[in-house]
Amino acid sequence: MSNGDSASDQAGGSKKGKPRALSAPKGVPDYVPPESGGFLAVRGAVLEAAERAGYGYIELPIFEDTTLYARGVGESTDVVSKEMYTFADRGDRSVTLRPEGTAGVVRAVIEHGLDRGQLPVKLRYAGPFFRYERPQAGRYRQLQQAGIEAIGVDDPALDAEVIAIADEAFKRLGLTGYRLDLTSLGDAESRLPYREKLQAFLAGLDLDEATRERASINPLRVLDDKRPEVQAQLSEAPLMLDNLSEAASAHFAEVREHLDAMGVAYTINPRLVRGLDYYTKTTFEFVHEGLGAQSGIGGGGRYDGLMEQLGGQSLSGIGFGIGVDRTLLALRAEGVDPGPASRVDVFAVALGAEARAAIVPLLSRLRDAGLRVDMAYGNRGMKGSFKAADRSGAAHTLVLGEQELADGTVVLKDMSAGTQKSIPLPDVMGELTAR
Ligand code: HAM
Repeated sequence: MSNGDSASDQAGGSKKGKPRALSAPKGVPDYVPPESGGFLAVRGAVLEAAERAGYGYIELPIFEDTTLYARGVGESTDVVSKEMYTFADRGDRSVTLRPEGTAGVVRAVIEHGLDRGQLPVKLRYAGPFFRYERPQAGRYRQLQQAGIEAIGVDDPALDAEVIAIADEAFKRLGLTGYRLDLTSLGDAESRLPYREKLQAFLAGLDLDEATRERASINPLRVLDDKRPEVQAQLSEAPLMLDNLSEAASAHFAEVREHLDAMGVAYTINPRLVRGLDYYTKTTFEFVHEGLGAQSGIGGGGRYDGLMEQLGGQSLSGIGFGIGVDRTLLALRAEGVDPGPASRVDVFAVALGAEARAAIVPLLSRLRDAGLRVDMAYGNRGMKGSFKAADRSGAAHTLVLGEQELADGTVVLKDMSAGTQKSIPLPDVMGELTAR
């Protein structure tokens, strides 16, 4: 990932009439080869794990009415109050670049009546999201997530499935140094009395005005305050997990049983606070130790009230968003490259116009057979062509020169073994697909 960072470039000024090269906006990464292969692998691992559990694909709009996020994500969150890319369009409607995916999925489920069919509605999605955060390693203004949502059934087995899908995706990618933090934020019955209890506790602390206000709007948020002087006062704070209703407690116990049975390891973290307001009951975050401050590689949880808040039926949902950027960084920190080892399987070198004419249709047939094939284009000569073959990373090189053309053969080089052999042209396909 490269990260554009220059306001001056935006002026697009030029010296001596030559336009200056531009950079991407600050905090907006590009994904270019070869690293982009890893990007696709991470995104694919999450989407495929979800597909194996029956999650259908949803492609969401990149921008929505601003009201969706104000209502869905919560006005007291940093995401909504400080980080949204909100602007008036030419028709003077307030629109916002999506900061997250859950609100959009729930909106679409309601709009298309998906919740009137078979439940749960299971959906998977991926793409860019936008948050005006201070860019740093692992924190971008355009970030990439792959996520799922399962809406309409409040079954602890479904919570466990959602968590297990994320865990499986990380494992398949070869990631090991992560931890799953798990807690329950309670149901409606647990939350009101707990909220009062927590507010009473916070009222006795030495807090600044802004924090007091936060305590009155969303006291849970105060538990997430990173300042040491605030944290020092919170050691005795009442915890949601100790104040669950009987139903919420039973739900959480069953989720843990399912996770145990599936062998998904977790750590109970009663102080886990998520950055979005819609969470209830099971809530979780995947944390990677190798990432420093931006250690959350994915997170999610149940959201009991969201559907109704957005004008739909009163149905519960649960889901997660995996940070594709951070997962890639985590893999890199562990020395794992999840991308393909090379961009092609076979590289062809044709020497002379006639050889080229003969090889072009062969390459097309090899591609039809599912091989990734490239060739040396342009008149590079022998040396340049073999250099290109080397650089391509292909496991095999096909060489067709004048002699081979006359014999009706082709030379097949095994690039890693350094061996080569001459084979009849009609046998190339069989030989390569067999390898
Ligand atoms: P979130 O925790 O805000 O949850 O984001 C999910 C993941 O996106 C984070 O764990 C992190 O890996 C990544 N992420 C967030 N912000 C940034 C950033 N500025 N730069 C790089 N990566 C970032 C949600 O968005 C929820 N919609 C997840 C969910 C789905 N909950 C229920 N269903």
